This record gives sequence, structure tokens and C-alpha cells, in this order.
Amino acid sequence: MRTPLIAGNWKMNTLPAEARVLVESLRERLPSPAAEVLVCPPFVSLATVAEALQGSAIAWGAQNLYWEESGAYTGEIAPAMLTALGCTYVILGHSERRQLFAETDADIARKVAAALAHGLTAIVCVGETETQYERGETEVHIRRQLRESLAGVTPAQAAKMVIAYEPIWAIGTGKSATAETAESVCALIRDELSVLFGAAVADGIRILYGGSVKPDNIAALLAKDNIDGALVGGASLKAADFAAIACGKEA
Ligand code: 13P
Repeated sequence: MRTPLIAGNWKMNTLPAEARVLVESLRERLPSPAAEVLVCPPFVSLATVAEALQGSAIAWGAQNLYWEESGAYTGEIAPAMLTALGCTYVILGHSERRQLFAETDADIARKVAAALAHGLTAIVCVGETETQYERGETEVHIRRQLRESLAGVTPAQAAKMVIAYEPIWAIGTGKSATAETAESVCALIRDELSVLFGAAVADGIRILYGGSVKPDNIAALLAKDNIDGALVGGASLKAADFAAIACGKEA
């Protein structure tokens, strides 16, 4: 049985004081959620969020990391800095990092290795552009992203990872993939994971859907066999909406 994971990717939003208000409200609304619930605020709010969520059922994580341990890497954040703040998860390979910051699958593979070495659960994002979707290239693209961004991962390590399918055309557009489309891609992701790591391991890996997830479409998504949760952007910034999504129902 795969426990659903509902993760909020706050992206570059909230000042620390706003982050505190948001997680305090979430904590109140979600005293004992059935799903596993995770928030990923900006780096500068992690300490505040960690303090506000001490002893709660809500986990916190980061949106990125750098693979080196320490040193002359101006502006970067090392894995141990995240674990020191109690992070248990890290989002890697988000399409915004791939597109706006030129992250490659090889970069992501190095980040995945660093996350694993520090006991962080990596949420590795994959997804196709609108053009690739229209040209019918989704499958080839997603399989390649998985192979290359998970290069070097062992089956034992893979068992603890999370994959997020985020079609780029559905991110921040209000135009979610239908539950059927999302399910068909999540099924092919599981198939590629079974090629890479074996069927038993693939069967235990959680696959999230992300892209305009809202309280009114979460139930249909979670009803699908291969969708084990959601990576939520915009709606994770509103406590009522994110709490409703975490409960798998309309607000
Ligand atoms: P939206 O939910 O705002 O579409 O963002 C999805 C996303 O990119 C989460 O990582």
C-alpha cells in the first residue's frame, strides 16, 4: 500500500512571517491527516517553518539543493544545511529549474545522489512541454528523463524516492491534465521504473501528479491506480485549499 503524499511547492512565494502564518493555519486545519503532508517553502523560511511545525504531522522540505558538501559555491545550498533544519524531502528537477535555470538530467542525477547520501527523500520531477505533448512525444521524453535523472540510483535507493509527473502545459495555467491523461502517463512512469529497478520496487514508489491541482480535481486524480498524491503549486499558498486537497476533497 502506498500512503498518499500531498506536497506543497511554494516556489518563490512568502516572506518568513507569511510562511509562519500559512503553516500555523495548516497545522490547525490538519491535526492528523490521512495522507502524508509536506510543505516546501523557500530556503529562507525553512527555519521558521521548522519551528512552527515542531511536533505536528506536517513535514517540510526544500525546493532544490547543490550536490557539493561545502565550499566556494556562492549562492548554493548543501544537503547537510537542509537536514540540519529538519528537512526530510527535497524537490529536484522541477521544470522551472530545468527551463529557467538550465538544469540538465545529468545535474539532477548528481543532486539525487547527494540527497540520497544525506537521507533526504528526493521528489524527482518529470514532464513534457505542450509541443512535445501535441507531437505525441510524451512517452519517449518521460522515459528518457527518468533514465537520465535517476542514473546511478540503486533499487534499494529508488524504493525510498518519489516521482512527480508535472506536464509543463498544466503548471500554473489552471488547465490540469484530466485524471485519465495523468493516469496514463503515471502508468508509463511506473512501467519505466520497473524496467530500471524491478517490478516490486516500482510498485512501492509513489508517483505524484502536479499541474493546476485544486480542491475540485484532487479526488478524481487520487482515485486513479497509479497516482499516489499531488505536487501542488498555487493552491498550496492558500491554507484552506491546501488543507482540502490534503483531505482529498473539495473545499
Ligand atoms: P500549480 O499547481 O500552480 O499549477 O504548480 C504546479 C507545480 O509546478 C508544483 O510543483
